[in-house]
Amino acid sequence: MTNSEQIKVLLIEDEEFDARRVENTIKPFAGRIKICDMVSDGKSAMDLLELKKNFYDIVIMDFQIAGGLRGEQLVKKIKDIDPSLQIIVITKMTINITDYEFAHGLIEAGAFWYCTKYPGDIEEYIYQPTDFIMSIFNAYERRKLIKEKQRSTQKLRKNVEDILAGKKIIGISEAANKLREQIAKYSNSNVPVLISGFSGTGKELVAYNLHYNSPRKYENFVPINCGGIPDQLIESELFGYEKGAFTGADKSKPGLFEIANHGTIFLDEISELPLSAQVKLLRVLQEGEVEKIGRTDKIKVDVRVISASNRNLEEEIKEKRFREDLYYRLNVVPISVPPLHQRKDDIIYLADYFMNEFAIDMGKEIPTINEDAMKVLIDYNWPGNVRELKNLVQRLLFYDEKIVTPELIESALGKKISQLDAYFGIDGVSFKSPDQPFSLRQMEKIFREKYFKYIRNQAESDSEAAKKLGLAPPNYYRMCKELGLK
Ligand SMILES: Nc1ncnc2c1ncn2[C@@H]1O[C@H](COP(=O)(O)OP(=O)(O)OP(=O)(O)O)[C@@H](O)[C@H]1O
Ligand SMILES: [Mg+2]
Repeated sequence: MTNSEQIKVLLIEDEEFDARRVENTIKPFAGRIKICDMVSDGKSAMDLLELKKNFYDIVIMDFQIAGGLRGEQLVKKIKDIDPSLQIIVITKMTINITDYEFAHGLIEAGAFWYCTKYPGDIEEYIYQPTDFIMSIFNAYERRKLIKEKQRSTQKLRKNVEDILAGKKIIGISEAANKLREQIAKYSNSNVPVLISGFSGTGKELVAYNLHYNSPRKYENFVPINCGGIPDQLIESELFGYEKGAFTGADKSKPGLFEIANHGTIFLDEISELPLSAQVKLLRVLQEGEVEKIGRTDKIKVDVRVISASNRNLEEEIKEKRFREDLYYRLNVVPISVPPLHQRKDDIIYLADYFMNEFAIDMGKEIPTINEDAMKVLIDYNWPGNVRELKNLVQRLLFYDEKIVTPELIESALGKKISQLDAYFGIDGVSFKSPDQPFSLRQMEKIFREKYFKYIRNQAESDSEAAKKLGLAPPNYYRMCKELGLK
């Protein structure tokens, strides 16, 4: 404690004689310990503590005071207002001082310290002065520690909130809602989760959300791409090694499981894990212990395992590339993230979200995606899923156009994306085989829209277009309206 810090005390005492004795006892340290206020009952104390929140450091309270609110009950109420406030209780000799239960009850209620007043014939002091003063100093240090801890927890909480804000799952589709529900349901437990889905669908995003919504959120989240590390290095990455374990091991290296201890490890592209590493991983999952290379005793770890794969692991098992027993250990809870073309409702929301985020990041004006362009985005098949959409939006911003049109999208994607181009040949009769066939109704709508636009572009007027299409003008106008063409 520095000398300039003053300890602010609230004294709750209804006998003037004792209040004076308390003042006298701390007098040698009057510059450092200041009795700022004095009240004679519990209710007034509570009022004052509410009024001057964060002002007092320590409450010194007499056990026997007038009014209903006193003793343990008062201690608890004070701690409810501010858990960092420290309470010193003083009692009269009449209380049986060998009654341990009595003192224990006070401490349990939240008091910092408890002492028995000197007999009434000692007018100078309330208690042995150096002990009394030391206890006040100690109580103050304790309050500072608690405050510091509160501050750092607050900071951590803020960090986690920031991370989660940047990892929001956007979308209104049933699939997106289901993902959010699953995250809420499984983030609170430690069960292993296996996330499956095509590349770019948001598997890693789900893993982040599972960790940062879990009780492990202040601990490490350690992602590793099992497909991105050469086979011969993966085991030392995951499990670490001791100094001298092999030539070249000039210092020991902690494995990712050790780094993730108490937190979460995210094993991405788990299908790529070599078989020998699969055996070791299985043992870690079964025993909760890591075998570090070059070390005889095992290291206990407490790590939640989330894994992801864009390959069908059941196929991999059939092909003997993936261990079945490991699969069951990892796949306790399966979460599947559907491809973007199966949740088209999300496309507009994702596009808007990325547009806003990138525009702000890049300090650019937010362009408007016009109706036709939106349609193109919705119709497109998105083989690269959300990642492809995100990248496209970023590229669109570099054009510095106020309005995003279908042509701009085609240019940014570097390919013609009209569905007709994808599914019809030039002559309009041969089909390419789509991997996700449209229903007849969808196909008809796509066709009509494209064909109407094509003819209208060639015609000088609407009546000419109607004629070319072989339609009576009223029918032509009605169909244009139905197709959303003006
Ligand atoms: N629903 C969503 N809302 C917002 N952003 C999303 C959503 N889904 C995916 N993204 C973003 O798209 C990008 C790709 O997602 P992510 O990396 O999670 O995919 P993945 O399934 O792990 O892909 P891969 O299999 O290629 O590793 C990330 O930048 C992610 O933040
Ligand atoms: Mg990924």
